[in-house]
Amino acid sequence: MSSKEKLAQSMEFPPETPQPNVYPLSWVRKTEKMEEIYAAAQKEWWDPAKLPWDTLDVDSYSWEERESIAYWWTILSVFDASAPPVFAAAMIKTYEAHEEDAVRRCFFSVTRDEQNHEQFCGLVITKMLEHPDPLTYEPKTELGKKLQKNAKWLYFNGGRYWEGYKKAVPKYSLAVLFSSFLMGEIASATIFHQMAAGCTEPVFKEGFTKVGRDEGRHMAICMSLMERDYPQLGAEDKKVITRQIRAGYLFLSAILFEPPTEFWDIPDDFIENQRAGEKVCREVGFFIPEYDAKKQNWIDAMMNLKGVLDKYDIPFPAIPECGITGEEITDIDMEDIIPVF
Ligand SMILES: [Fe+2]
Ligand SMILES: [Fe+2]
Repeated sequence: MSSKEKLAQSMEFPPETPQPNVYPLSWVRKTEKMEEIYAAAQKEWWDPAKLPWDTLDVDSYSWEERESIAYWWTILSVFDASAPPVFAAAMIKTYEAHEEDAVRRCFFSVTRDEQNHEQFCGLVITKMLEHPDPLTYEPKTELGKKLQKNAKWLYFNGGRYWEGYKKAVPKYSLAVLFSSFLMGEIASATIFHQMAAGCTEPVFKEGFTKVGRDEGRHMAICMSLMERDYPQLGAEDKKVITRQIRAGYLFLSAILFEPPTEFWDIPDDFIENQRAGEKVCREVGFFIPEYDAKKQNWIDAMMNLKGVLDKYDIPFPAIPECGITGEEITDIDMEDIIPVF
């Protein structure tokens, strides 16, 4: 049949529209919790450009300090700069799947929030380095050079993530995707609240408070979807989730802890350089949790998530790095990664 053929001449009603069709002509209201979260997102939206930037005097910092602070934001960007397209793809999926209206709106709000987080990173980096791109910037100090080398390796590693993610989105149900997102949301809500409390610069304090609040909302979105969908979850999906939790641990450790070398392809001096940069940050009031505190955050986030998964009989993976026993998961590669931040 040619696509130009006029069906309306031969039948009263059109044939079924092939699915998945990206536009649902329906605005179903079911999960009330989602409506509440979306209402909060509308109220709490913020503009990174309106943070108190005039209070940040970059000249009060040495170049080593500026490069160290910009480095932390660069690591964050390795995760946050992919968040807008990642969530945009998930949002499209909510339309294809003809999800409830509020679910679509919630995913739109996450996409919008993540764009803010990415903008926040860009604004800090540009101000600190007087250059809009941490990879083409010319470092002024020895430490700055080492940190840029680190950043280049992280960027290279993160670049392998997108192709795998694009394949995962059509393959898995939203329930599986959400559970992979959840881990990043739990852990990031914690770390941003800690950084808001610990940082001395008003612009960081205020920005982190807002980012932390956003992440808490993202966590609530994932949780309410899980509560809705997990009771019907099949055995195959459960297996994917267990694997994704381990994948999330390996992937997100680069920002929330330290990058595990079994997964991240990084040079031998990477950790040492990163620790040196973080030390400089802490000394000038840019609070990054110490090694033990980061580890504790991870353990707390993992136990929190384990509590949720246990309720639905989803096996938890072993995370020996955090002293958590469970199912042994091996052979995880960047191409397998769904979790985002
Ligand atoms: Fe974020
Ligand atoms: Fe998030």
